[in-house]
Amino acid sequence: MNELDSLVATARAAFAEAKTPAELENAKAQFLGKSGRITELMKGMAALSVEEKKSRGAAINVGKQAIEAALTERRQQLADEELSLQLRAESLDVSLPGRRRIPGGLHPVSRTLERIEEIFSSMGFDVADGPEIESDWHSFTSLNNPPNHPARSMQDTFYVDMNGDDGIPYNLRPHTSPMQVRYAHQHIKKYAAEFAAAAADTTGTVKAPEIRVIAPGRTYRVDSDATHSPMFHQCEGLWLGENVSFKDLKVVFTDFCRTFFERDDLVLRFRPSFFPFTEPSAEIDIQFASGPLAGRWLEVSGSGQVHPNVVRNMGLDPERYIGFAFGMGPDRLTMLRYGVNDLRLFFDGDLRFLSQFQ
Ligand code: PHE
Repeated sequence: MNELDSLVATARAAFAEAKTPAELENAKAQFLGKSGRITELMKGMAALSVEEKKSRGAAINVGKQAIEAALTERRQQLADEELSLQLRAESLDVSLPGRRRIPGGLHPVSRTLERIEEIFSSMGFDVADGPEIESDWHSFTSLNNPPNHPARSMQDTFYVDMNGDDGIPYNLRPHTSPMQVRYAHQHIKKYAAEFAAAAADTTGTVKAPEIRVIAPGRTYRVDSDATHSPMFHQCEGLWLGENVSFKDLKVVFTDFCRTFFERDDLVLRFRPSFFPFTEPSAEIDIQFASGPLAGRWLEVSGSGQVHPNVVRNMGLDPERYIGFAFGMGPDRLTMLRYGVNDLRLFFDGDLRFLSQFQ
């Protein structure tokens, strides 16, 4: 191996030694720098003859180019190494198990409400929604429960610091019953032509349009223990027509309860009671034939034939329109369906309790 070949080999080895770009640039200076080996060889040519300079110069140039090529190659190698190091450091391990996402689910009371809506929809009932901050007239007066009437004290009502047009404070509705008159007004307005045609009919051939609705939602009373919460749910039901009787209430509500609990042997009892807006009125109790609650009467709803004054407040003729209303407790139904004994558990927001229903 001649002198230049061995110089190229030495340079290559030095470049290979360099582990970083900075080290490589240092190594480069030893061969190609101002006082590097190649430069020294060039300087050494000064004393040579023209002929000798030519061949010696050409040989040195070949060596210089080979060193430059080796340098470029090593530079690229180091850059590649650095890139792959960086990629490895920044890489994501896609085989790692993901963070666990707890699947969401419906609240047990929401499940009950959906079930109630489904069952009553299948019986031809509309589903309506109404305000939770309600006027005194809708919550009480329209329901045959005038100011100062003692029956008002049956409900320990929350009042809102804002008066309605009548100068009486708004209330957080203590029941869903205000939806009876509120919905009737909306419905009569929507089907004004049909209602007017029926009202104008003297031949008795035009059938009066019916009102058939349930109105589930939140209700509020100053009340709190294992079976009462200041916020609770009710579901109002109303069916008015020319010939809707207490018998229809019994059939509809019995059907509903048996479907809801999936128990054909469920027995219902209509126990006489009082509400200002129904006459006669009844509490509805249910009894299971078997299971942990077998034989006990459990109250699930208030009900009755809609009072003529309420029908009048709807803008309808009580001589023509009769029917029934009920107001049941979906929270209670949920407790009975799932065997929960403390109502407050539903509203504590404890996932250990709630996730059992998913
Ligand atoms: N609103 C009554 C209550 O909250 C229940 C009810 C509704 C009774 C409709 C009769 C008719 O106790």
